Amino acid sequence: MTAAIGLGLLGVGTVGSAVVRALAERATYLEKTTGRSFEIRKALVQDLTKVRDVPLEASTFTSEINEVLLDDSIDIVVELMGGVEPANSYLRRAIESGKHVVTANKEVMATHGVELMALAAASGRDLYFEASVGGGIPLIGPFRQDLAANQIREVHAILNGTTNYILTKMSSGDADYKSALAEAQHLGYAEPEPENDVGGHDSAYKLAILASLAFKSDIRPQDVFREGITNLTPADFRHAAELGYSIKLLAIAKADADDVEVRVHPTLVQKDFLLGQVDGVFNAVRLDGDLLGRAMFIGRGAGPEPTSSAIVADLIDLGHNIHRNEHNRIPLSFSPTTRVRPIAAVRSRYYFRVWVQDHPGVLAQIGTVCGEESVSIASVIQKEIDETAGRAELVFLTHEADESSAQQAITRIAELEVVAEVASCIRVEDLAE
Ligand SMILES: NC(=O)c1ccc[n+]([C@@H]2O[C@H](COP(=O)([O-])OP(=O)(O)OC[C@H]3O[C@@H](n4cnc5c(N)ncnc54)[C@H](OP(=O)(O)O)[C@@H]3O)[C@@H](O)[C@H]2O)c1
Repeated sequence: MTAAIGLGLLGVGTVGSAVVRALAERATYLEKTTGRSFEIRKALVQDLTKVRDVPLEASTFTSEINEVLLDDSIDIVVELMGGVEPANSYLRRAIESGKHVVTANKEVMATHGVELMALAAASGRDLYFEASVGGGIPLIGPFRQDLAANQIREVHAILNGTTNYILTKMSSGDADYKSALAEAQHLGYAEPEPENDVGGHDSAYKLAILASLAFKSDIRPQDVFREGITNLTPADFRHAAELGYSIKLLAIAKADADDVEVRVHPTLVQKDFLLGQVDGVFNAVRLDGDLLGRAMFIGRGAGPEPTSSAIVADLIDLGHNIHRNEHNRIPLSFSPTTRVRPIAAVRSRYYFRVWVQDHPGVLAQIGTVCGEESVSIASVIQKEIDETAGRAELVFLTHEADESSAQQAITRIAELEVVAEVASCIRVEDLAE
């Protein structure tokens, strides 16, 4: 009989528990398909007294990392703890101890993935991380392997289910940001401390991973321009809808001959395109490859079962490798010299909403400022009039302009005496058919 593949789990929380259950339920299938069975030999947790709904003996649990790393019967370390440290050090030590690794950790892969992949390659070990972006949606495999013949030119993605849920709620017209967030927290979609999601950090980690794979470049989270969703108001959703747009927290990556741009921010995106219709906790990734053209992946970007789907698939692939003693079949390399375009030089269209004194000549003054800053106005609509305050609300859509010009124009518009307030400024992305 061929020896079982020994697993060491780091973390048996939401995802870890689902992985243990999925492995138990599929034990026969896994053995049939890979030629080897999988056995969880150790499971690292913080709190040994916690009651856990998983089919594991009490003696499997440990709170001592060396019991996993020094156990020669463990072939694969599956890291499901989260956070950068100590997860990154544990993964590094696991590889150095001769183990293969699987991780769902976007923070580690975005900040240290390039070094970990190089270490794994130099050590003849495998590193799998399908669950780190998009939960159960297959993305790392396709970006790494199935799309390899393409030059990927653009990625537009919704990579965070929590914010997409909040934005979907706000677009329905019956919630402002605060109440939509409260509902997401009540349903368990948002953390009590939501900054990681609503501030766009989580999306930036995932975009750094996807853009690195897409453009074969070493792109880190700090390269990604990031703006969260906390300033969006119901009025923006109403006006965007009237103009034919949804508002999504888009993760955008584009490459041309000289540099790449990577950014995460609220974006007006056409409502009649599939990406503009991806609602609730769903995630989506739309890409443009030179051979394939446009393609899109949609699905559940989080949750224990969808995430365990990706992790168990990684284990199956790794099981095949171990059975055949073949590793690093698809080596990756990342150019360290790719230039990331500063946000000031990025070009975009803009939506902005301004409250002005309800006087003649206001539009001309705003138009003059825009003209002087090389921002060309595509359309302007008067939305509301507040007669008591003598104010009117104007919504502008611009043609494509440099970010620096658009920001300079907005600053100068806010300083005009006839302007009471620039209430919002949101970038617009017109997707091509
Ligand atoms: N949840 C999702 O839907 C989802 C989706 C995609 C990817 N992910 C990723 O999957 C990973 C795990 O997420 P999760 O939601 O399962 O987290 P979780 O429920 O908080 O579970 C974390 C587990 O790791 C253990 N742990 C944490 N720090 C530790 C330390 N220093 N030493 C030993 N054990 C430690 C915890 O032990 P105790 O149980 O004793 O506290 C717990 O078992 C994260 O990287 C996350 O980003 C999650």
